[in-house]
Amino acid sequence: MFYIFPTATEIADFVSEQMLLRIKNQNKTVFGLATGSTMEPVYEQFIQKYRQCQPSLEQVYCFNLDEYVGLPAEHPQSYHAYMQKHLFRHVPFNQQQVFLPCGQKTANEAECQAFSALIQAQGGIDLQLLGIGTNGHIGFNEPGTPFNSRTHIVALSEQTRRDNSRFFANKNEMPTHAVTLGLKDIVEAEEVFLLATGAHKAEIMAALQRSRSDEQLPASILHEHPNAIVLLDAQAAQELDRSLCRSYQDLTRTRTAIAEKAT
Ligand code: GLP
Repeated sequence: MFYIFPTATEIADFVSEQMLLRIKNQNKTVFGLATGSTMEPVYEQFIQKYRQCQPSLEQVYCFNLDEYVGLPAEHPQSYHAYMQKHLFRHVPFNQQQVFLPCGQKTANEAECQAFSALIQAQGGIDLQLLGIGTNGHIGFNEPGTPFNSRTHIVALSEQTRRDNSRFFANKNEMPTHAVTLGLKDIVEAEEVFLLATGAHKAEIMAALQRSRSDEQLPASILHEHPNAIVLLDAQAAQELDRSLCRSYQDLTRTRTAIAEKAT
């Protein structure tokens, strides 16, 4: 399940390629999208590759994982703004088929349930992209979140607020709450790619590799997923047990063979 790539660039190349292949080969594609620094090179390469082949996006649906509560959508650190800046402004997705959880102050339980239901109404997510927090959160599912959770509002942990406040010029603006897809919603995706890059992720990735499924380490739910893989750069992989990892070439070789068969 753990694949080591030399750098974030090779990860972005692989992931963006897999996204494009799904768009080209499937009648309909439902993406689960993530934000954060880790995803920026992925979207950058996706945009470049999209421009080269321009496949139809008519049957592509995008659902984002999470959003802060209380930041207006136009706030530069909102995930609405992030997605516009890094992806949606550059690729003509049908805006009626792009969905982000609502982060308004009035966000409530009924809206959360409706978000999970909307994904199910589209037949579920085909490919879910995930980053990981240094405390093991995925989306904003903090340690202790039940594995059977659906979209919900969460109080952010101190660690997450500390980590993410780096994006806010005024630290007081760092939100205290967020809305996130639940862990159950995430693992219902047909395929999951968890990406981790940089030395600051090395410790949590080693913990994830050693762990069994444990609600105190939210990403460990992926151990139960039949089709989830972890893609790491060499820095994030530096504390892993290498005998339990595979090289990225194994992955790219297998995927190329599958893609060739499909054409
Ligand atoms: C944030 C987001 C996650 C993201 C994670 C990692 O808190 N809620 O969806 O995966 O942190 O972010 P980064 O890629 O910037 O390290």
